[in-house]
Amino acid sequence: MNTLEMIVVGILVVSFLGTLALWKRDKAALYAIFSLSLVALFGITTWQDMTPEWKGYQREYAKLLMEKAKTQQEKEDAANFPIEIRQIWNDELKIADRCTSCHLGTENPDMADAPEPFRYHPAAHVDEQGAIYHDFNKIGCTICHQGQGRATDVVNSHAVHIHHWEFPMYPVGEKSMVQASCAQCHEGLTKPEGYEILKGAEMIMDARDFAAGQNDLEIECTACHTIYGIGEVVAPDLGEYGARTEHEFEGTHNMDHVEGHKDMYNWTYQHFLEPKKISPADPAHGQEETIMPEFGMSEEMAHKLTTWVYSMKESNIPVKYRYRPDAETLEAKRGALQQEIAGLYTPEEYAQLSEGEKLFLKYNCWVCHTVKGKGGKLAPDLTKVGTRRTDDWMLKHFKDPRSVTQKSFMPQFNLSQVQMDELTAYLKTLQ
Ligand code: HEC
Ligand code: HEC
Ligand code: HEC
Ligand code: HEC
Ligand code: HEC
Repeated sequence: MNTLEMIVVGILVVSFLGTLALWKRDKAALYAIFSLSLVALFGITTWQDMTPEWKGYQREYAKLLMEKAKTQQEKEDAANFPIEIRQIWNDELKIADRCTSCHLGTENPDMADAPEPFRYHPAAHVDEQGAIYHDFNKIGCTICHQGQGRATDVVNSHAVHIHHWEFPMYPVGEKSMVQASCAQCHEGLTKPEGYEILKGAEMIMDARDFAAGQNDLEIECTACHTIYGIGEVVAPDLGEYGARTEHEFEGTHNMDHVEGHKDMYNWTYQHFLEPKKISPADPAHGQEETIMPEFGMSEEMAHKLTTWVYSMKESNIPVKYRYRPDAETLEAKRGALQQEIAGLYTPEEYAQLSEGEKLFLKYNCWVCHTVKGKGGKLAPDLTKVGTRRTDDWMLKHFKDPRSVTQKSFMPQFNLSQVQMDELTAYLKTLQ
């Protein structure tokens, strides 16, 4: 409770006690107490309304601008700095973020060394050439940070300690989780068909590699879990992990064995380090001990994996705001990437390939299959597959490998009809 709240409580207590003491004895005195209380309460509300937190920060910022001003124009601007609520509003994204009412220097490089909440915001924002690639004036802040955009005081806008706010602000700094938000627009970062390389999302990329089998046990998470449609169903589907609110999570998970604050982050993080401790046998609820293995990972990796699973949800960002580089850039990037991975093609050669062959590279089919001496040895050599299989067989097989080859471990790729046709056309040329 702050001082103001204590004064308000004090007034209410005096009114209450006054009523008890004076009701039968002195009505006039009682009314006097009531009137005074009302005036005081009214005064307090008005005063509070006129001195909100953000106004203080804006005055401080204006002072800072004045100190840094060099030209006459800058001095005038600082002197006339308007004290008003600032808001980034975007109906398509359903945001009304007032964070910039206090975070006033996010776009001002002169504020690189200013204290918070005035500091310049270079992260995930400006490239080496100085070009801005996420326009805060369009996309706001909560899209990456979460929190409560409409609020105008620190406690409510950061919403870190508000129990019923669904998506509290992600921590920044050492235990940062902000990268959990990148995949909403950079879908290739987490979706298996993309596996985009993205500067600034290194935590997610590390977690992704670990999950794909680059760990001491050499086990892929999809050996048990389904992730975006790929994998087994022995364990919960992880594709919507991050869509759950804190409340929903706590209602559906056994929080008994979590150390420290019993919340979704701690459950997930500690479960990665010691699955059997967090999900032990629980005969009362017919629950067996979890079969999830203890990977023996570092605490750092547990934090990265936690951030990665928080990023898992269907994006509700309109497509036009998502990362959709033009086809040429993407081709060049992919060409370079494929070349790097397999040393198969130069970007020039890559550009000449048929759509089907590009898909074959894009989906990393060659990791398992060999074509003309290049590729993996986990699955049948496809060098002459065009002579063996009909179009119909191929289509059926793409839709669900297990429908034609019972125990196949070939993944079920979520291919569109056009993609399946293009792949089939390419495979038919292999004779
Ligand atoms: C009333 C003013 C105010 C508003 C509104 C506000 N902030 Fe802050 N913010 C601060 C202050 C002051 C700090 C530095 C002290 C602190 O961490 O509490 C800060 C710190 C931060 C930090 C760094 C935290 C850290 O641990 O270093 C982030 C990130 C942040 N704010 C994001 C936001 C976002 C996103 C919003 C909008 C949803 C927002 N803020 C709204 C005043 C504000
Ligand atoms: C595209 C995503 C994105 C958007 C949009 C975004 N931020 Fe950030 N922000 C980040 C990342 C990434 C970091 C670095 C966090 C970390 O890892 O510590 C960061 C860090 C911060 C910090 C801490 C700065 C520091 O020095 O550590 C503050 C404060 C902050 N952002 C405020 C804002 C405000 C206010 C807005 C809206 C005007 C905003 N951000 C919009 C991604 C974003
Ligand atoms: C609201 C959607 C959105 C979110 C959230 C978002 N980005 Fe982006 N990002 C884009 C778009 C769109 C572009 C392309 C911008 C352009 O060309 O002007 C882009 C471009 C980039 C680029 C330049 C890359 C290139 O190859 O051109 C980087 C790096 C980047 N984003 C990193 C991040 C990181 C890291 C995060 C998470 C902290 C993030 N983005 C979150 C939409 C988003
Ligand atoms: C041998 C099978 C197996 C493997 C391999 C496995 N898990 Fe699990 N995992 C489970 C089972 C079973 C559960 C559900 C019981 C429990 O532990 O709470 C689970 C639970 C989880 C949960 C909580 C899911 C929820 O909705 O409650 C997460 C997150 C998770 N695993 C992530 C991973 C990641 C990431 C990997 C790879 C690094 C992985 N798991 C590897 C079997 C596995
Ligand atoms: C994880 C390893 C793996 C990947 C990746 C993979 N496959 Fe397969 N594929 C297999 C296995 C195993 C078989 C044999 C069992 C079967 O018929 O499903 C197979 C069979 C095939 C066959 C039938 C071969 C024959 O001679 O009967 C075709 C065609 C094929 N795959 C195409 C593809 C294409 C195209 C891709 C990429 C979109 C792909 N595969 C990716 C493992 C893989």
